[in-house]
Amino acid sequence: KNADIGLVGLAVMGQNLALNIADHGYTIAVYNRDPKKMLNFIEECKAKEPSHERVVGHADLASFVLSIKRPRKIVLLVKAGSATDVTINALLPFLEHGDIIIDGGNALWTDTIRREKELAAKGIEFIGSGVSGGETGARFGPSLMPSGTRKAWSSLEPIWRDIAAKVDPVTGTPLEGGEPGKPVQGGFSCAEYIGPDGAGHYVKMVHNGIEYIDMQLICEAYWLMKNLLGMPADEIGKVFAEWNKGELSSFLIEITADILQQRDPGGKGFLVDNILDTAGQKGTGQWTAANALELGAPANAIAAAVYARALSSLKEERVEASRILKGPEIVKETDKPAIIEAIKNALYCSKICAYAQGFQLIDKAQVAYNWKLNFGELAQIWRGGCIIRARFLQKITDAYALNSRLKNLMLDPYFTNAMNEGQAGWRKVIALAVTNGIPAQGFAAALAYYDGYRSADLPANLLQGQRDFFGAHTYERKDHPRGQFFHLDWPEKGRPELSIE
Ligand code: 6PG
Repeated sequence: KNADIGLVGLAVMGQNLALNIADHGYTIAVYNRDPKKMLNFIEECKAKEPSHERVVGHADLASFVLSIKRPRKIVLLVKAGSATDVTINALLPFLEHGDIIIDGGNALWTDTIRREKELAAKGIEFIGSGVSGGETGARFGPSLMPSGTRKAWSSLEPIWRDIAAKVDPVTGTPLEGGEPGKPVQGGFSCAEYIGPDGAGHYVKMVHNGIEYIDMQLICEAYWLMKNLLGMPADEIGKVFAEWNKGELSSFLIEITADILQQRDPGGKGFLVDNILDTAGQKGTGQWTAANALELGAPANAIAAAVYARALSSLKEERVEASRILKGPEIVKETDKPAIIEAIKNALYCSKICAYAQGFQLIDKAQVAYNWKLNFGELAQIWRGGCIIRARFLQKITDAYALNSRLKNLMLDPYFTNAMNEGQAGWRKVIALAVTNGIPAQGFAAALAYYDGYRSADLPANLLQGQRDFFGAHTYERKDHPRGQFFHLDWPEKGRPELSIE
């Protein structure tokens, strides 16, 4: 029994996380359903990984489990869904009281709640941990969002903190420099305890919902520069590279700059122009939008991003419709610097709305699930390692430090100011998009949210009237205290001339 931890599932994420753990001085037992994959991985490690002697492969589950120090910590990085249950059931006969299973996949949080209950009845601890950062994050420092019992967390904590991304505790700047065998030391570790049962996977799901809209907004900025200004991909890439130096600085902006400037290896112009425009999705964005609907959280920009992917997937239909359905001719804009600046405003303001919606949703969920989450800390966990890591997350941490009960991010002075300054440009961009028939559903949804949120009065008065008219659903009155409900026996009711026949 000499392994500090075990890991099941040697696909890309599993392999990289195992190497990261080994780099931090832990001995890690690894297992894969197909032993060939495990053997190949071990061979590759021997050939090129400085910490290879700490990665120990096992071809059978019994020897794998028995090689781990008790209480055992076993990380699962298998495909989310039924494969997780199958793996847990296969492990169970070998586990002992107090052992801990850690699910690092993109699990649905309700599955995590169920699994924790089922395993608790058997004396096994279960930690659902969001893991973000893709391949490189897993290898050199992911963002980790663990949840479960405090007891289980205290057992996992040292390893999780060691392997996570590190940021400067004051400025939030990610500490760079990890390389095989030489992990980054010191700094704030992007691995804070989130809460009980499914909280970690829930937060990871919302992270992905924000990831979806963040990506969609960047795509719209690119599309507007291309269509309104006729800019080639590499020139747009340079604008993103420039934006990456300021408040928009983020991993997604940085990779966008690189992607846009990438020439097609086949030699035909820029690669991005030759990539088919149909987006894939594995479900986490859709779960976020669906849950926002269930909880009554106005996350319309996140939903817009999911719908935009769905629409993109109808390529053949879109090609056909483009020949049939009319739109305006695009009139190219001439004042390039002004339009680029306005697009930047649209991007930043919409991005703030995206985060405002994400945090608003998490707030609803913490009430529904009886969690107590620390929003400032969440922003800090996302500051390094994960896909949505961005400089402006520090501003979110600061906002919640200033007011832990902040109702909406847009009400924090820094963000209020950013919205007030950017909103004119944002509107101009959407107006141009509409006039020229260029789809910009992310920007538009975010603006609708912004304008709805800042409206003291909305036409829902009429809506309540309609509900009361046809269904006696009652309404409250502006001149009476909240909670008093009225109903009118509408005089028009039943008048034959109002019948839709
Ligand atoms: C991460 C990512 C990662 C992945 C998602 C979304 O945080 O590392 O969110 O989990 O990008 O699975 O994938 P889809 O775009 O395929 O839904």
